[in-house]
Amino acid sequence: MSERKPVTVPELRARKSSGPRITMLTAYDASMAASLAAGGVDCLLVGDSLGMVVQGGTSTVPVTVAEIAYHTRAVARAAGPTLVIADLPYLSYATLPQALDSAQQLIQAGAQMVKLEGGGWTAPIVAALAERDVPVCAHLGLTPQSVHKFGGFRVQGRDAAAAERIRVEGLALAEAGAEMVVLECVPSALARQITAELPIPTIGIGAGPDCDGQVLVCYDFLGMSTGVRPRFVKNFLSGRDSVQAAAAAYCAAVRDGSFPGPEHGYA
Ligand code: KIV
Repeated sequence: MSERKPVTVPELRARKSSGPRITMLTAYDASMAASLAAGGVDCLLVGDSLGMVVQGGTSTVPVTVAEIAYHTRAVARAAGPTLVIADLPYLSYATLPQALDSAQQLIQAGAQMVKLEGGGWTAPIVAALAERDVPVCAHLGLTPQSVHKFGGFRVQGRDAAAAERIRVEGLALAEAGAEMVVLECVPSALARQITAELPIPTIGIGAGPDCDGQVLVCYDFLGMSTGVRPRFVKNFLSGRDSVQAAAAAYCAAVRDGSFPGPEHGYA
């Protein structure tokens, strides 16, 4: 079997125009990372979703940089050729010195890119990290660290003013030097428009079928979600006998455009 070449930041950037679509799943430990990598996933995200799906909390807010660094080290050891992205947790990038310190810890733990949530105010932080050659993935729409302001985990950008704000923020973050942007729980039409306008790849989750890539929380794609199952979730383990086979099926479906379908998005 031929060895997969390591996925790189410039390659992800180039996929915007050349394809194929970018596949991303979250991972929090070495065993899951190894199986997902063997299934051919491009990127593993050590998401602060671990505060909910690993630690059992009700939000991502309590997660710390030290916790993300711990899980990043575990994932990076088993990630093989996949590109590892680590989340900057709540208020760990509120000021430039904090952002630099937090990013240093996560990149030194083995991440090749950091992800941060939020719009306009983060553009100078993204620019400062990018100037120092720290690759950054932005995150717009339903940004779970803003749960208290949003009053819950809700679709964002449904009215014209909010949609326009997210669109303009996407342009500002790309201009600031973000390499990619996650669009979470926004109407499919808005994600389509942003994907068409931005020079960087968009990675959707609850953002419809037209993004340049897709991400899911690994336990969701394995059918292990508890409670309300969001409509963008699909169980790829169903009918398969291993996590690796589920990951391979997820990658094939994202790349051939059969997942996500219109039914996995919001109006
Ligand atoms: O923390 C996370 O897992 C995320 C993804 C859901 C995009 O940010």
